[in-house]
Amino acid sequence: MRLRRARTIFAYWKGKELVFANYRTRVSVTAHPFTAQILDFFDRWRQPEDLVCDIPQYSASSLRAAIGQLAKNTLLVRAGTFDARQDAELAKSWTTWLPYGGFHFGTKDVRFARGNQREKLAESHLTRSSQPPFFKTYRNARRLRLPRCQIPDTEFARVLKSRKTHRQFSDTALPLAVVSQLLFCTWGVMGYLPTLYGQAPHKSSPSGGARHPGEVYLLALKIRGLSPGLYYYDPKNHSLVVLRDGHMEKKAVEYCAGQAHVKNAAALFLMTAVFPRSMWRYRFARAYRVVLLDAGHLCQTFCLTATWLGLAPFCTAALKDSLIERDLGIDGISESVLYVAGVGAPRAVRKSPSAALDVYS
Ligand SMILES: Cc1cc2nc3c(=O)[nH]c(=O)nc-3n(C[C@H](O)[C@H](O)[C@H](O)COP(=O)(O)O)c2cc1C
Repeated sequence: MRLRRARTIFAYWKGKELVFANYRTRVSVTAHPFTAQILDFFDRWRQPEDLVCDIPQYSASSLRAAIGQLAKNTLLVRAGTFDARQDAELAKSWTTWLPYGGFHFGTKDVRFARGNQREKLAESHLTRSSQPPFFKTYRNARRLRLPRCQIPDTEFARVLKSRKTHRQFSDTALPLAVVSQLLFCTWGVMGYLPTLYGQAPHKSSPSGGARHPGEVYLLALKIRGLSPGLYYYDPKNHSLVVLRDGHMEKKAVEYCAGQAHVKNAAALFLMTAVFPRSMWRYRFARAYRVVLLDAGHLCQTFCLTATWLGLAPFCTAALKDSLIERDLGIDGISESVLYVAGVGAPRAVRKSPSAALDVYS
C-alpha cells in the first residue's frame, strides 16, 4: 500500500495544541509536532515500511499506528483511491488559487441548525450578546445634506421597492413561458462583447473580466408545460438539457438543508461556478471573491426579474453542497454549487408590477 501526504493540509495552534487540518475533507486533528516530520516524509508515494527504516528511533508498531491514524484522518491518501484522485484533481485545477482559495472547500457541507436547534441557538447566544448596530455614526464630522430624493412612480422603481424574500407560495404552477423569461433575463446571452481574448458573452449582470463562471440548473417542481425534474440551462442556445425526470420536492428540501418552504415553490435555480474560466484569466486567489460577487449579481438580477414578473422569489445559501453536486453530475472541484434561488406564485395574488406577462393566465 502506497501513501502520500494530502496536498491540502494546513496547520495551526489552538491554545497549546497543534492542529493539522485537511481543508478539502474538513477533517482536523490535534497531533504532536513530530507529525509534521511524518507528513514531510510522505511528500511522494511511499510505503509505510520506508518510514520505519528512515526513523529507527521509533518502534515500527508506533509508526504504523501513526500512519494508520493519519490515513484515517485523510492527512495521508492511499494510492488508487477516490480520495487520492480528488486530492490530485484539486491540487491540479486549483493550483494558482491555493492555499487561500482553499477557503472554498473549508466552508462546504457544514451542518445547519434545524427547527428548534435554531431557537436554542438564538436563546443561548443571540439574546445574551448585544447586536452590532446596523448604522455607523460619525460624531463631530461635517455633514452635507443631500437633495431630497423623490422616487418617481415608474415600473423600475416599483420593482425595486417590491422585491422581498418570499417563503410562502400559492399552489399555482408557473407557465413555462414565464420560467423561460426568468432564465433568459438572468442567465441568457444578450449579445457578445469583443475582449482582448476574443468574443465573450454579454449578460444582464456584470461579470469580473467577462469570464461568466456562473451556470444554472433548473429544478422544475410545478411548471405548466415542463415535466418535473432536473435540467441544465444552456444559455448559448436558450434551451434545457434533461438531467433527471421525476418529482423532486423532497430533494428540493434536502438540497436547501431542510428548509421546508422550498417544496411549495415552483422552481429552484441551482447556481454553480465553473472556476477554470476565472482561473485561466486570473491566476491569484483574490479572483475567488470575484466568482462569489458574480453569483450575487446574478441572484439580484433574478430577484428583480422575478418581482417584475409578479412572482415570489427567494434565495438561500444554506445548501447541501455535495448532495447537489452529485445529482448535477459535477465534480465539486472544477465546478461547485454556490447559491440557490427559487420562485413560486405569490400566496396572495397581487397585480403584477409588469404588464409583460401575466403569470396567472
Ligand atoms: C446570501 C444570502 C443567503 C440567504 N440565505 C437564506 C436562507 O438560507 N434561508 C432563508 O430563508 N433566507 C435566506 N436569505 C434571505 C434573507 O433572509 C433575506 O434577504 C433577509 O431576511 C431580508 O429580507 P428581504 O430579502 O425580504 O429584504 C438569504 C439572503 C442572502 C442574500
